[in-house]
Amino acid sequence: MTYLTVYTDGDTPETLLETDDAAEITAALKAIDVRLRTWEVVDGLATGASQEEILAAYRDEVSRVIAEEGYTLVDVAQLHPDDSTDWPERAAAARRKFLAEHTHDDDEVRFFVGGSGIFYLHVDGKVHAVLCEPGDLLSVPKNTTHWFDMGTSPDFTAIRFFHDDDGWVGDFTGDPIAERIPDFDAIVARRASLAAGGRDGR
Ligand SMILES: [Fe+2]
Repeated sequence: MTYLTVYTDGDTPETLLETDDAAEITAALKAIDVRLRTWEVVDGLATGASQEEILAAYRDEVSRVIAEEGYTLVDVAQLHPDDSTDWPERAAAARRKFLAEHTHDDDEVRFFVGGSGIFYLHVDGKVHAVLCEPGDLLSVPKNTTHWFDMGTSPDFTAIRFFHDDDGWVGDFTGDPIAERIPDFDAIVARRASLAAGGRDGR
């Protein structure tokens, strides 16, 4: 289930909202032109399934999005912990890549097949941290200032949609705001502690 935290973007960020209510999350994101939709998760896809297997499992949904929104390229990005000695280094390098605030010339559209990651959307003086989980299709419009945190132990499989093959360059703003906002690990821990306390996250 998706989880949204909204922060102020000042020197000492304050939490304005924490929620796992789907309707509330969708409405809050719609207000900043970010679209969140939910697809039924296909059972039986093993972790590490091939790109072909994953795209075949979601063929109808993927085809619909391509037809409606004009994407021309679709691929699968995935990262899963393993026992290799270079895993910590690979994980840290992958995490660093889009961990600072940036924009793209293309929309950033991701469907989470498995695992999770947090998109931080910095719009109108607020940061919306969207924890995406299996079944979530998030569409971030081009030129939206944002960053992405996959955490210190990245584990996700996501289908990506592109309009062209050269829109996928990060244009970094130089704003260090990502360093002030709770990261993936902190938000996941916070959510777990709220759940353990029997509260509904608000
Ligand atoms: Fe990005």
